[in-house]
Amino acid sequence: MFKNRDIISMADFSREEIDHILDVAEMVEKNPTDYNNLLNNKIMALLFFEPSTRTRMSFESAMYRFGGKCIDLGPIDASSLKKGESFTDTIKVVSRYADLMVIRHPADGVARYVSEIVDIPIINGGDGTGQHPTQTLLDLFTLKKENKLERVNIGIVGDLKYSRTVHSLVYALTLYDVEMTFIYPPSLRLPDGIIEYLVKNKIKYKECNDIEEVIEDIDVLYVTRIQQERFPDVSEYYAVSDSYKITKNLLESKAKDDLILLHPLPKKNEIEKELDETHYAKYFLQVEYGIYVRMALLGLIMGAFE
Ligand code: CP
Repeated sequence: MFKNRDIISMADFSREEIDHILDVAEMVEKNPTDYNNLLNNKIMALLFFEPSTRTRMSFESAMYRFGGKCIDLGPIDASSLKKGESFTDTIKVVSRYADLMVIRHPADGVARYVSEIVDIPIINGGDGTGQHPTQTLLDLFTLKKENKLERVNIGIVGDLKYSRTVHSLVYALTLYDVEMTFIYPPSLRLPDGIIEYLVKNKIKYKECNDIEEVIEDIDVLYVTRIQQERFPDVSEYYAVSDSYKITKNLLESKAKDDLILLHPLPKKNEIEKELDETHYAKYFLQVEYGIYVRMALLGLIMGAFE
């Protein structure tokens, strides 16, 4: 089902396929050291044209846990791109050195383009404001582990316009029996294309600008950072940069006691630091689950798992 498959957009996945990845991730989580040599003859290339801590390092960690190896383009200035080699040529060259490639790029659609010009499987590690499918798979894994993937109200709060993690997550959640509530400053609504997709597929959702209006009904609060780097005009960023903050007081006074707080990270000031040590916060658990999900994906794509 997944051998040699590209992982580009959550819109490419069926519910059955997602559930299978989550099942394999759960199998790996149970006995992670059972697979030490699973990919010991495989090489993964990492090409990150934007900063990353989690995506880059968790893919590396996942590959090493399988006995595989990683090569990394490194900083652009240290590659022959600096000498004027084209992006396309660079990609074609690196694809001859590896069995699989993970790419992050600031432009929407680049991962799809790369998948069309090379013969090895491509994993989209985030393309501009487009998609971040592996983040969504670990988000779904977290929801599953927390028993919050069916019959729950998921509030998605913050930068819905530019956050690729949100875009991927919304596509995926349309396949599950959940309610979605979008909470955002007026200038940061979901892109029209995603709203149109929801309407066309008759997916019910709520929208509001003030979290206090809806917090009592929320089971999962998925918080996002305002994506400063995506704003064409910095003044537009500063107009919304402090527009919301999830506080301990808000959750303790108004939210359900079993609400869980997710965040793809990195976070800045949108979640009060005091919340990190509370039972609501699951974002560091998400980070850990990212290893199992990315191990599952590598094993499936390389044909080592069915
Ligand atoms: N969540 C996520 O993509 O984090 P990084 O940008 O650190 O990879």
